[in-house]
Amino acid sequence: MATETEIIDLQKIRSDFPILSREVNGKPLVYFDNGASSQKPQQVIDVISHYYEYEHSNIHRGIHTLSQEATNAYEDARKTLQHFINAKHDHEVIFTAGTTGSINLVASSFGKKYLKEGDEIIISTMEHHSNIVPWQMICEEKGAILKVVPINDDGEFLMEEFNDLLSDKTKLVAVTHVSNTLGTINPVKEIIEKSHANGALVLIDGAQSIPHTKVDVQELDCDFYVFSGHKMCGPTGVGILYGKEDILNNLPPYQGGGDMIKTVTFEKTTYNSLPHKLEAGTPNIAGGIGLAAAAKYMNEIGIDKIEAYEHELLIYATQQIKQIDGVRIIGEAENKASVLSFLVDGTHPSDIGMIVDKLGVAIRTGHHCTEPLMDRFGIPGTARASFAFYNTIEEVDIFITALKRAIKMLL
Ligand code: ALA
Repeated sequence: MATETEIIDLQKIRSDFPILSREVNGKPLVYFDNGASSQKPQQVIDVISHYYEYEHSNIHRGIHTLSQEATNAYEDARKTLQHFINAKHDHEVIFTAGTTGSINLVASSFGKKYLKEGDEIIISTMEHHSNIVPWQMICEEKGAILKVVPINDDGEFLMEEFNDLLSDKTKLVAVTHVSNTLGTINPVKEIIEKSHANGALVLIDGAQSIPHTKVDVQELDCDFYVFSGHKMCGPTGVGILYGKEDILNNLPPYQGGGDMIKTVTFEKTTYNSLPHKLEAGTPNIAGGIGLAAAAKYMNEIGIDKIEAYEHELLIYATQQIKQIDGVRIIGEAENKASVLSFLVDGTHPSDIGMIVDKLGVAIRTGHHCTEPLMDRFGIPGTARASFAFYNTIEEVDIFITALKRAIKMLL
C-alpha cells in the first residue's frame, strides 16, 4: 500500500483545516462524516470573510463600483466552476441552493413542459430521497410513472434490468454517480449512452462524486449534472445545476422574480437569457464565491491524488473492520468510493454512533436519507464512516479501537 506522504502532503493539508485540531469530548476529533458534509479549509473561509469585509454588494444590479466588483467575483466563480466540471459554456452552470435545489428545478421545469400521462422516469434503488421525492411529486402531478432499477446484494446497479426498463416511454433517467450510503460508483457513462440511444435525457446526482473524483460533463455527455458545495469543502446553501445549453434554453423558468426577467409589464413578462433565467432573486453570492475557492483548493491538491489517497483509506478501513467479529458491511461493490456502511450483530447503529462520539469519532448513523435502499437490504439503518482526503490511517486506527470498545460495552 502506498503511504500517505507518497500521494498527498497530509501534514500541510491538515493544517489548512482549523477544525481538525479541535477536541470533541476531550479527545482529538476524528471526523468521518464527510458524506454528510466536509470540513472547510482556511483558504475557503478567508475568501468568504474577505468578500463580506471588502466586496459585498448586490450583483447584476448596481452601477456603483462595489456592485460591479461583486458581480465580477460571482461571474468569475461561475467560470471557475465551469472549468472544474469542463462545461462548454459558463452559462450552462446555474447556481442553486444545492443538489436538492438543482434536482427540484429540473423535475419541476422539465416535468411541467415535457411530461405527460403515461410517460416514465427511471431512477435506481440506491437514490437519496432528494433524487426520489421530486420525481414522485412531478409524476403525481402529470400522471407519469416512476420506475426503479434494482441492485444486487453488493449494492451494484443492475444494467440488464435497466435495459429492460428503458422504453420509448422513458423521458428521463436520474441516477446517482456515487451512492451516499453504499459508496457504489455507478457506471454512469454506460447509463448515459444507453439512455440516449433510447431518446431519454439523463440527470446525474453528483453530490457524493464531486468531492472524490474528476468530473468531465462533456466527456460523460450527461444532460444535467448536479452537486452541492458543502460536501466539497465549500459553504452550505450553494450548489450547481449543470445543463446542456440547448436543453436549459428550452426549460421554462423555475421561479419568478428579480434577475430572471428581460422586461416586465402587467400584461406580459419576457425572460432573461441563461444563466439568469434560472436564477431568480438575489443569490448566495458569498456561497458561490466560496464554492469556487473550494474548487480551486481541491484542484491544487489534485483530484486524481485525492481519489487515490481516499481509496487507500477505504481499503485499509475495510480490511480492519472485517477483522471484527459480527461486523457486516452494507455495500461491497467492486467499484467503491470512500464510504463504509456497516452493522454489528446484536447492536443498534445509533448506540455505536453515540459511544464512538464519546471517544471523539464522528460517524453518521440511520437511514442516510435512503429509506427505500434500507428496505431493499431489510435493515432500518447503518453506521457509516465516510472519509475525506484530510483523514489519516491513524484516525482509522482510532475509529477501529473506538468501535471495538463500543461493541464490548454493548454486547
Ligand atoms: N446526503 C447526506 C449524507 O449522506 C446528508 O449524509
